[in-house]
Amino acid sequence: MSSPEKSSLYNLSNRSFRLRGTRITEAQAKATDLFWDEFGILPNHPIVPSEIFPTSKQIIMEIGTGMGEATAEIARNFPDTGFFALEVHRPGIGSLLARINEIELTNVRLINEDARKVLEENMPDQCLDAVHLYFPDPWHKKKHWKRRIVQEDFVDLIHKKLKPGGHIHIATDWVAYAEWSQGKFGSDSRFIGGVIPKPDFRPLTRFEGKGLGKGHVVTDLKYVKA
Ligand SMILES: C[S@@+](CC[C@H](N)C(=O)[O-])C[C@H]1O[C@@H](n2cnc3c(N)ncnc32)[C@H](O)[C@@H]1O
Repeated sequence: MSSPEKSSLYNLSNRSFRLRGTRITEAQAKATDLFWDEFGILPNHPIVPSEIFPTSKQIIMEIGTGMGEATAEIARNFPDTGFFALEVHRPGIGSLLARINEIELTNVRLINEDARKVLEENMPDQCLDAVHLYFPDPWHKKKHWKRRIVQEDFVDLIHKKLKPGGHIHIATDWVAYAEWSQGKFGSDSRFIGGVIPKPDFRPLTRFEGKGLGKGHVVTDLKYVKA
């Protein structure tokens, strides 16, 4: 375990998410009260995917699930896969819990914490078949680029946690972020991949819809651990 003093994850200046208020709707709060105990995991102990999803054929982690639209839809369409949904903001956690209840999903577990911290401190190596990173905060300004989640140390972390042959799927509506990610994953010989057509299984999220409304171009990238 890394200590708070040593870990860069605790450095306020390079957090990959915005510190927003925790204004939560009544429905999100109610869903959290009712369903957190069943589907939530506190990252205060080792998290062993094969123990949590003993019968799942694959294990996928989605980082930054937002309101959870894509997570719930993909989990519904892949019932044999176990999904870890990582999101730092509680309204999104409540929203995904409500969807899980509504469509009676059993193959999703939520973790309300920085995904990098959970990967580093709680998850065993080579435990994931895939990582989904859909519309990461783009951090447009140069002075904020260090806050982009895709960095060299993130590439290392993903490499460590993927099984051999596992992959990361990134979607972004910010061309500069797609190029940035290509620079980080594409230049690393431990990964093979690049731009792919949008896969049918990836549904439109609210965030993506907003970007498309502004005329943004969406890029899907896939990098396989060689
Ligand atoms: C731009 S939103 C996109 C949300 C969703 N994927 C979508 O497409 O609608 C990015 C999300 O990632 C979350 N996030 C950013 N960094 C994170 C991290 N290190 N761990 C977990 N969640 C993170 C943010 O809180 C935010 O909800």
